[in-house]
Amino acid sequence: MMLQEEQFIPKPAEILEVNDMTSIEKLFRLKLMDEELERSFNYMPGQFVQVSVYGVGEATISICKSKTRPGPLELLVRRVGRVTNALHRLKEGDIVGIRGPFGNWFPVDEMEGHDVLIIAGGLGIAPVRGVLQHVLDNRGKYGEVNLLYGVKGYEETLFKDEVLSPFRGESGFRSFISFEKDDEFYENLMKKYPEFVKKGVVTVLFDLADSYIDPSNSYAIVAGPPVMYKFVLKELEKRNFPADRVYVTLERRMRCGVGKCGHCIIGGASSIAYVCKDGPVFSYFDILSIRGAI
Ligand SMILES: Cc1cc2nc3c(=O)[nH]c(=O)nc-3n(C[C@H](O)[C@H](O)[C@H](O)COP(=O)(O)OP(=O)(O)OC[C@H]3O[C@@H](n4cnc5c(N)ncnc54)[C@H](O)[C@@H]3O)c2cc1C
Ligand code: FES
Repeated sequence: MMLQEEQFIPKPAEILEVNDMTSIEKLFRLKLMDEELERSFNYMPGQFVQVSVYGVGEATISICKSKTRPGPLELLVRRVGRVTNALHRLKEGDIVGIRGPFGNWFPVDEMEGHDVLIIAGGLGIAPVRGVLQHVLDNRGKYGEVNLLYGVKGYEETLFKDEVLSPFRGESGFRSFISFEKDDEFYENLMKKYPEFVKKGVVTVLFDLADSYIDPSNSYAIVAGPPVMYKFVLKELEKRNFPADRVYVTLERRMRCGVGKCGHCIIGGASSIAYVCKDGPVFSYFDILSIRGAI
């Protein structure tokens, strides 16, 4: 258990590797410089860290890897503003600060014995990649695993090797992918795998995946841009997914990450929640009573 004051002290971490994923996203592999801390650094799918670039500031970033995979911490960072631009300028060997891991996680233990449906849009693949890895690394404990992933186009597709190869369930899960743009890659993929690829936003994939989904025995995991949630949740409701087996991860501006500053509060007089400590993962059932959560 972390001491209260320690939660506010960034621990130095070395960047071991930086890889360009798209023109605006990079994957960082990092290790804490204190060997004991690095050894004991444990995390669950859906948790996040606060990453600081010294002299610039801190940003909240999801851990995008499962602890079931060997290797260092992985963070996928989209360049949007001050801190993330500064992060993108860093190279192997540079040092950043890490606080965390913070927040709750997707209920991977509770999900055992059930089918898993993961629905992600764009950068939303980052917080759910750990769930997918966890489930695939414990394959015998879960039923059917289906991923519905919506992207703008081939260029913007994250973790291409992982999401584009497992059509027809060859890697233990089925990956359905929707492209908003009509690029050449889409055309070719569409010709080859029309049963797994479709033009449009992520919700168009439900039609393709329906015959593989059994809502009475499934958990649904949803992550993506705020606009996506309303439409995805509507599709899940139409299929009678129970609200307590649908989980979303929410994003709010964060500062402390540990429930002290109040920056990430959602809701109103009757019911409030701190996205940093009560979330970022919420069941649909829980957020139904929190005003403005979605
Ligand atoms: C739980 C959680 C997990 C996250 N995981 C990731 C991740 O894995 N990868 C990743 O790239 N980003 C992630 N983010 C978003 C990331 O924290 C912000 O993009 C980052 O803090 C921006 O910092 P900045 O200084 O670069 O941008 P700023 O200069 O602070 O802002 C740039 C622009 O982005 C907007 N912005 C900043 N933060 C947020 C936010 N949280 N929500 C909506 N708009 C915002 C600002 O309003 C502004 O328009 C996550 C956020 C949360 C809360
Ligand atoms: S980020 Fe400070 S209370 Fe949540």
